[in-house]
Amino acid sequence: MCEENDRMIKKINDFIYFVGILNPNSRVSDVIVKMDFGTSYNSFIIKDKKIALVETCKHEFIDSYLENIRQVCDLNLIDYIILNHTEPDHSGALKKIIELAPNAKIICSQAGTIYLKNILNQDLDFVVARDNFELELGENKIKFVSAPFLHWPDSMFSLLENKNFKAVFSCDFLGCHFCEPEIFDYKIKFTDSYNLMLENYFKSIFGPFKKYVLSGLEKIENQNLDFVFTSHGPILTKNNFLEQVIKKYKSWALSEKAENKYIAIFYCSAYGNTFKLAEQIKNGILESNNMAKVKLFNVIEHDLSVLQNELNSCDAFLIGTPTINRDAVAPVWNLLAGLDVINSKNKNAAVFGSFGWSGEATDFVFNRLRDLKLKVFDSKLKINFVPSERDLDDARNFGFEFASNLI
Ligand code: FEO
Repeated sequence: MCEENDRMIKKINDFIYFVGILNPNSRVSDVIVKMDFGTSYNSFIIKDKKIALVETCKHEFIDSYLENIRQVCDLNLIDYIILNHTEPDHSGALKKIIELAPNAKIICSQAGTIYLKNILNQDLDFVVARDNFELELGENKIKFVSAPFLHWPDSMFSLLENKNFKAVFSCDFLGCHFCEPEIFDYKIKFTDSYNLMLENYFKSIFGPFKKYVLSGLEKIENQNLDFVFTSHGPILTKNNFLEQVIKKYKSWALSEKAENKYIAIFYCSAYGNTFKLAEQIKNGILESNNMAKVKLFNVIEHDLSVLQNELNSCDAFLIGTPTINRDAVAPVWNLLAGLDVINSKNKNAAVFGSFGWSGEATDFVFNRLRDLKLKVFDSKLKINFVPSERDLDDARNFGFEFASNLI
């Protein structure tokens, strides 16, 4: 399927060349991400009537990288530099490249333009690739697809169409910190190690963004792709690893949702404000996990023993209280008095509430739950008087984040 040249560059087909860098010796990325088998900084040239360079690499590899590019074309012939994501492992060499490729236009997302200005500390003339923006190169056409939070706000995909093949340049998405001498998936020698690092990479980089992973997969799943050109690890090819890596990403992104967790929201509300927050929190939880069972309980409307039963049988709970006379209200304390502390150790919990004057209640309940050794969500949602539209958005995000971080 693919023809290989020498060790420095690889010709993938009539139009696409790999000009990236193999880095088998590095053992950690972004300070915390383990790389037991090194990584690669994949970069590609699409050589058509117009020439596009896709991604760059870390600055420290600039000399080898320039040598790779020069084996394919003179830098001053490059028309476009496409950055699907601007983190410095992909943009580090850009400063030098734009000096040597003065005719090249930089194509990235709107968020990417902001990051690049601050990464390079210089003003640049960007082409902003809005969602579905298309670029004709000759026999190849690229459509840019917005893919936010995969894994930065700037992330996008470049879908390439040619009459003989289809591909996506996905940057970090579907990638892996893994390095063998060959760059194609069907040449991987240590498959178990690759699979191990693939899962580790997913958890480290995309674990917090599962909702976005699912929407990213929807954007590429039905494209009948022949190649996924990631920016780390092997190139994924049709009928080899491409389909299984997509399936794995999907199952990892869905795994928590399939657990059908029961999340209870208890609240007391003097004037309906804490109730409004509770409703939005419920919406946020369901946005994160639409298979969760979420129940709202107005504490003063139910028998205490029924509520305490719910409190002890749920997988996680949130509790909302107003502040009256500088404290949480009695029904909330009574509910918590029935908490099965032994079996609730490390249970996920969170606190929220509206207040009028001083607002101590949420802090008191938060501290109480923490002292009882529950796993209390770090942030408290505490709103003064009537929640504004923005407060309601915050409440929805609070619910979303709570559900996304359940353990
Ligand atoms: Fe490989 Fe998010 O950089």
